[in-house]
Parts: sequence; structure tokens; C-alpha cells
Amino acid sequence: MSKNQVNGDVDHDLYKLGFGTRALHAGQEPDQWNSRAVVPPIVMSTTFAQFAPAVHAGYEYGRSGNPTRNSLQKCLASLDKAKFALVYASGLATQANITQLLKEGDNIVAGDELYGGTNRYFRTCAAKFGISIDYVNFSKPENVERALKSNTKLVWFETPTNPLLKVTDIEAICKIVKKFNSDIIIVVDNTFLSPYFQSPLNFGVDIVMNSITKYINGHSDVIMGSISTNRSDLHQQLKYVQNAVGAVPSPFDCFLVNRGMKTLALRMEQHQKNALAVAKFLEEHPLVRKVIYLGLKSHPQYDVIKKQCSGFGGMVCMYINGNLETVKAFLEKLKLFTLAESLGAVESLVEVPSIMTHASLPPELRKELGIDDTLVRLSVGIENTDDLIQDLDQALKYANSL
Ligand SMILES: Cc1ncc(COP(=O)(O)O)c(C=O)c1O
Repeated sequence: MSKNQVNGDVDHDLYKLGFGTRALHAGQEPDQWNSRAVVPPIVMSTTFAQFAPAVHAGYEYGRSGNPTRNSLQKCLASLDKAKFALVYASGLATQANITQLLKEGDNIVAGDELYGGTNRYFRTCAAKFGISIDYVNFSKPENVERALKSNTKLVWFETPTNPLLKVTDIEAICKIVKKFNSDIIIVVDNTFLSPYFQSPLNFGVDIVMNSITKYINGHSDVIMGSISTNRSDLHQQLKYVQNAVGAVPSPFDCFLVNRGMKTLALRMEQHQKNALAVAKFLEEHPLVRKVIYLGLKSHPQYDVIKKQCSGFGGMVCMYINGNLETVKAFLEKLKLFTLAESLGAVESLVEVPSIMTHASLPPELRKELGIDDTLVRLSVGIENTDDLIQDLDQALKYANSL
């Protein structure tokens, strides 16, 4: 195995190729294995034989490095067109590792609308170590400008947000933050669009974070998170923390994600096709008060979306006319949309954020954001479009008849 491969650096010639091609070839080179395996083998060994004390072939111990994980990291880096990528045992473990770059007295400026678990980690775990957090609505860049302080070390936001799909102008935020203090680390959680539809590194972000659990793996069978970055200083520091903290994914999970990623481009296209059809159908439905989808011209930040995203993704939100009982009746009748947390996998899922994914948010924040009991979040899968529409139609008709 060459030094280049062990270090996780990527063959940058590959970066000239298309997204789908990179997903199939980056990090997968058969030459790196004695067997010339076309699919990267699952290397389960926790330790690696040394030629002499401290002389090894690039791997010592499975926490600090693993060949299957390395293949995945290289492929993922290529999808983000980044120099480096690292993977972790979950999206939240990724967040915890990044937060380890801070120290007592530092400040984080974060989006006010984040996945409930992300907000919970900052509020109840990072805060315990003397790190302060200010939550701001990032869709108005001037709010961020006002919030920055001399001790701000990290700026963290999702775009689009979970669950209300609010969009942030990434370039505008990066300009403001870097002008204020170029040392501040800017992180974008890109989970909702995946590298296929959005490349935040192109707009000046330092780290792109992903819950791989969602679109990147895409099959609801792995929990994992990742970072991609072009900054070698951050990569070195995070690689150190990855080993020191030890929240690494199993080689088997790395294999599954590597396999799932090969169809990311195809899946994202079908998610988008279905989500657009679903959003248009819901927009016309009498039981639906409001639909939010990135691909609808009615989205308040449609201009920003057109500027920084190459597509709209598969997430659709709607407010139902009625109350929680109406929502429950609708959910009860759905046959193809499974009532479950999570998103971004091949099968369609539905959930009620106020009492499920975002139940851990303080109630007053939920109210302020508009996450009430009539808000329903759909993760539109890759089933046949007509079947999904029919399923929604019959369930809405039933709820409407009560
Ligand atoms: C936008 C977003 N970021 C981060 C996470 C956390 O990821 P994980 O569940 O892989 O820890 C989630 C999980 O739902 C999410 O939706």
C-alpha cells in the first residue's frame, strides 16, 4: 500500500471526473490490495503486524486507522471535492469531536434551528465544559454579524435546516465571519442535501459535516457521521481527536456505506423527482395549510437555493389543517410512508417533529420556530411516484373525513 493511500490523501486526477464516477472509483483502487479485490475488503483486524518495533505498513491499531475506513474516507473526500475526510461512529459523535477543538471560555454561534440532538449536545454537553452557545436565525446574515464575539471559535449551521428547510446563504455568512475573525471555524451540516446537491466547501466553509446515517448511506442500516475539509491543520487536529476520543465506526459499517454511496447520485435524482411531485400534490390539497420544499417557487429563499444548490433533495414538510388528532388519523392510514424518525433512505418515512425528532428542544424554542403538532415531515423515498401520491391521497382523504 502506498504512503499516499495510507494517509487518506486522494488521487486528485479523479476529481476531474463526474460525481457518479468518483463515487464508484475513488478509494476503491484494486491495486491497493494484494488480492486486487474490486470491492474494498472488510478488514476486521484490530491490530496490524509490525516489521520491527514501531516500523509498520501504515496501520498499527484499528482505532487509529483501518484500511476499509480509509477507502470510505477517500471516496467521501472525493464526493465533497475535499482534500480530506474522516468518519465517526455517528453524526453526533462527529459534532462532539469537532467541539473538542474548543476549550473552556470559547463561544459557539449556532443556528437556532438544528436537529434536536445537535442542539441538545451543545446545550447540555458542550455547555458543561464552560463553552457558551448563542443561537441565531442564520437565514438573516446580519443576525450572525451581531452575534459574533471576540471569543467565538466555532460557527455551526444547517442549510437547509431540520425540519423547516430554512436556507442560509453560505457565501454571505462565510464572508461576514472570516472578515470578523479568520480563525473562526465554520461548519455546515450538509445532511439534508448530501454532497450530491450542495458543496459548502466551494463557498468558504472550513468543515462540511454529514450524518452519513441519512442520504449518504441511504439504506437505514448504518449510524455514522463524517467531516470533509481542505484544511490540513484541521484535518490533523481532528484525526488526532478521532483517535484520542475513539468514536470510530466499525469496518463492516464502513463497507456498507462505501457500497451505499455508489448509488448516491441515482438515489438523489429519484428522491428529488418524487419529492417535487409530492410537494406539488400537497400544495393543492385542502387539508394541507402550507407546504415547504426547496423546489417550490413559494419557498421564501428560492433565489439563494438556486445560487448554491444543484438540486432540491427529498425532504418535504407540511402543516395540516386541524390538530394532533387529525395528524394521527392521517399517519394511521398511510401504507407506504413508515412512521419513523430518521430520513434520507430509500424507503419513504414520515414523522411529527414536535413530539419525535425535535421533542428534546425547549418548548418555547419549538413554539418560536413554528414546530407545532400540525407539522409533518416527509422523507420522500425512491418508490414509484404514483404510488406515493396515491398513498398520501387516501390517508389525507380519511383524515379530512373525520
Ligand atoms: C441534520 C442532522 N444532523 C445531524 C444528525 C445526527 O446524526 P446521527 O443520528 O447520525 O448521530 C441528524 C440526525 O437526525 C440530522 O438530521
